[in-house]
Amino acid sequence: MADRLTVAALCGSLRRGSWNRTLLAATAALAAPRLAITEVPIRDLPHFDEDLERDPWPPQVLALGEVVRRADGVMIVTPEYNAGIPGPLKNAIDWLSRATPAGGPPIAGKPIAILGASPGMLGTARAQAQLRLILQNLQLPVLPGPNVFVSNAAARFGADGSITDEATRTMVETMLDRFAAWIVQVGDKQAS
Ligand SMILES: Cc1cc2nc3c(=O)[nH]c(=O)nc-3n(C[C@H](O)[C@H](O)[C@H](O)COP(=O)(O)O)c2cc1C
Repeated sequence: MADRLTVAALCGSLRRGSWNRTLLAATAALAAPRLAITEVPIRDLPHFDEDLERDPWPPQVLALGEVVRRADGVMIVTPEYNAGIPGPLKNAIDWLSRATPAGGPPIAGKPIAILGASPGMLGTARAQAQLRLILQNLQLPVLPGPNVFVSNAAARFGADGSITDEATRTMVETMLDRFAAWIVQVGDKQAS
């Protein structure tokens, strides 16, 4: 495994000014250069439909799959909508859980970290619990223990999008240390 680990990041929010995309960007900045975290857009994926799983496959699906397939790990940064994960994120996971002409399911075996930000008090706890259940069903190695929950999001970031709240920054940095070690551990286990 290379010294510099690559991480494909999915953001569950599509909106401009998203707190979750702000969290993703701030996390990527704190992670560099050890982890290269890059967002992979999910906005233009078609709704999952088994009838589309034939030639020619939707190019957005193949493009997303190839980025995820090449990555050492996956980071999912998601809002909570109605106590669950947003539809576009579930849609992306459904596509990534399917074999493509390039090989098996792109997300298979990928170490995953989960982050979420909300203006509310629960910091996406219910969405993250639901997401864990989905990923567990896919037998994916999700980073154990608490990952990153950001409540009261407006109070945690500066105007430049950096994390100004010290406890939040420590939570992200601790997760990044653990995630980097987790990616190596999972990779070693899969190679043995
Ligand atoms: C349809 C809808 C449902 C929502 N439900 C929840 C919820 O269950 N829990 C929560 O903390 N916030 C909820 N919110 C508020 C979101 O946390 C808030 O809009 C947040 O800013 C979305 O994330 P973003 O900033 O990354 O786009 C909901 C928002 C919408 C639009």
